[in-house]
Amino acid sequence: MGYAEVYGRSLSDAEAFWAEAAEEIHWYKKWDKVLDDSNPPFYRWFTGGEVNTCYNVVDRHVEEGRGDQLALIYDTPITGAPTQKITYSELQHKVAHFAGALKAQGVEKGDRVIIYMPMVPEAAIAMLACARIGAVHSVVFGGFAPNELATRIEDAKPKLMISASCGVEPSGVIAYKPLLDQAIDISSVKPEKCIIMQRSQVEAELIEGRDIEWSESLEGVTPADCVPLAATDPLYILYTSGTTGEPKGVVRDNGGHLVALKWSMNNVYDVSPGEVFWAASDVGWVVGHSYIVYAPLVHGCTTILFEGKPVGTPDAGVFWRIISEHGVEVFFTAPTAFRAIKRDDPDADLMKKYDLSHFRILFLAGERSDPDTIQWAEEHLKVPVIDHYWQTETGWPMLANPMGIENMPVKYGSPSKPVPGFDFKVLDSECRELGAGEMGALCVKLPLPPGCLPTLWNADDRYVDSYLSEYPGFYKTGDAGYMDEEDYVYVMSRTDDIINVAGHRLSTGGMEEVLSAHPDVAECAVIGVKDQLKGQLPLGFLVLKAGVEKGNEEIVSEVVQLVRQQIGAVASFRQATVVKRLPKTRSGKILRGTMACIADGEEYRMPATIDDPAILPEITEALAGLGYPPA
Ligand code: COA
Ligand code: AMP
Repeated sequence: MGYAEVYGRSLSDAEAFWAEAAEEIHWYKKWDKVLDDSNPPFYRWFTGGEVNTCYNVVDRHVEEGRGDQLALIYDTPITGAPTQKITYSELQHKVAHFAGALKAQGVEKGDRVIIYMPMVPEAAIAMLACARIGAVHSVVFGGFAPNELATRIEDAKPKLMISASCGVEPSGVIAYKPLLDQAIDISSVKPEKCIIMQRSQVEAELIEGRDIEWSESLEGVTPADCVPLAATDPLYILYTSGTTGEPKGVVRDNGGHLVALKWSMNNVYDVSPGEVFWAASDVGWVVGHSYIVYAPLVHGCTTILFEGKPVGTPDAGVFWRIISEHGVEVFFTAPTAFRAIKRDDPDADLMKKYDLSHFRILFLAGERSDPDTIQWAEEHLKVPVIDHYWQTETGWPMLANPMGIENMPVKYGSPSKPVPGFDFKVLDSECRELGAGEMGALCVKLPLPPGCLPTLWNADDRYVDSYLSEYPGFYKTGDAGYMDEEDYVYVMSRTDDIINVAGHRLSTGGMEEVLSAHPDVAECAVIGVKDQLKGQLPLGFLVLKAGVEKGNEEIVSEVVQLVRQQIGAVASFRQATVVKRLPKTRSGKILRGTMACIADGEEYRMPATIDDPAILPEITEALAGLGYPPA
């Protein structure tokens, strides 16, 4: 069957389509209903079914003869420690014991557990252990500051937290434990216990009565078995940037998630059980959840946990070394990583040192793939390079060239066509479907397929308001773009205040909240400006209160520090400028889009509703002072 036929069937007979896919999963009890549409706009998949995610991704493979196959390879060039190889049997042992440790600390089905860890195997083991006993994990990316972690503690109300003594970054060792302690101090919700993995680089100080060392937590525990869970029970909460500083807790269920990920491995990624699949991301992001941990393991693949950077650990050849050494067949990373490699090794000389003959396909996602980067990768790797598009909310690809179904011609600048299950539409503001080439809001007709968010954690209303109310009957992605006459979709920009920095999704609204809190700032705006390496970088505009005596430079450096402290280094917020006033519409809306066009050197139309056009030359001058637009 070709793409057109599979896609057509996924929409015309969705229940039969997904019921068939669900046969690939082990169920303790089959579902009563494939799609429960009794309470729109809330849709649930496989209601009545009972399943366990950990059983499907670990134990089942051991029982079916994969026990001696490698499940996980931990390669850590940033620390220089030896590579660790963990078979499925060993993984089962470790996960069952750590699940026992969680139970011994009082964690039960439905309790939340926050995991704040660097890229070490224990992070994946902790996730799987939660899944095993029905605890709901929420992994928080290590690059977030205590304040962001505190917001997530406040919302998820974890019974227990799991962390490590440190992470290792190119800038040096980052002690995580003080950040964890600070976050717990700030939060009004206090976890009862913290399990801390001590790493050799830094020894964390433990708080008596609350903190337990990872190894100590395992002493004398009874390994815990997998428990049957409702298909619709939550597996995890993953917080992602919204338009304000308050992150959204995306919920993932157990049943639909397993079915969708398993299906995607065959049909989108064209990878077979037993092969080595590597996603170079972080477990703190959705790519890490789906394609480092759950999907490769549910498919019986070997996955790689990489603690390092595409360049500098030790050089721009590290990806090729890993692909060659561990026999990676299919690889997934963000375009920004390739831009970094291309910058350091433009002729790909380092690639030539390695045997990549078994390497078959490269997938890129997380941000727009610029044609230059794709062409560079194609030219040097001589394998298909597939741009695909998705979000934290969907958990798996919405647009892709589904390589396991049909390798369709690549059109540069487009992540190809809608993935089966996603009834993708481009709509105008009146919710009317637009024709080929017409730019509009990228939306998906409800119901979303299995694996996508059923709601936001404890926030059904916010789920509806954020995604479903503007275009009734549709899920709003928050991206704008168009579809061509052959149904290839072009994703052009966000329609909200979210920017994408090195594949990391960040809220400019959140940064503005931090800047506004500075005592000398009367008003501010943060925009995303184009950056050759990271895709976008944040840039702040500050209007100071009258009578401020401090120098502008001092205030700029203070706000830069504030964003680092409150959001985290990952925001890469390093530039801001003081202006007399901000351009606004007559109704007082700041014209961030116009400012971004000026910074990027793009043509823009003078907004008809602008209050005072004379402000724009002032903004142009301030931006020129920071080197924008680049020559
Ligand atoms: N823990 C603590 N700090 C972290 C961190 C973590 N897990 N991850 C990043 N940081 C810090 C970095 O140390 C850096 O701090 P600095 O300002 O003190 O130098 C800051 O956050 C920004 O980090 P990063 O985005 O990694 O930028 P970089 O300039 O160090 O490296 C790239 C640039 C392109 C090499 C890097 O961004 C990269 O590897 N991108 C790939 C992204 C990716 O895989 N995204 C996944 C989405 S699919
Ligand atoms: P995240 O939820 O962090 O995965 O970020 C999702 C957002 O990243 C999307 O809404 C897009 O704005 C952007 N994005 C992800 N993949 C692509 C892609 N292939 N092309 C263009 N934008 C992308």
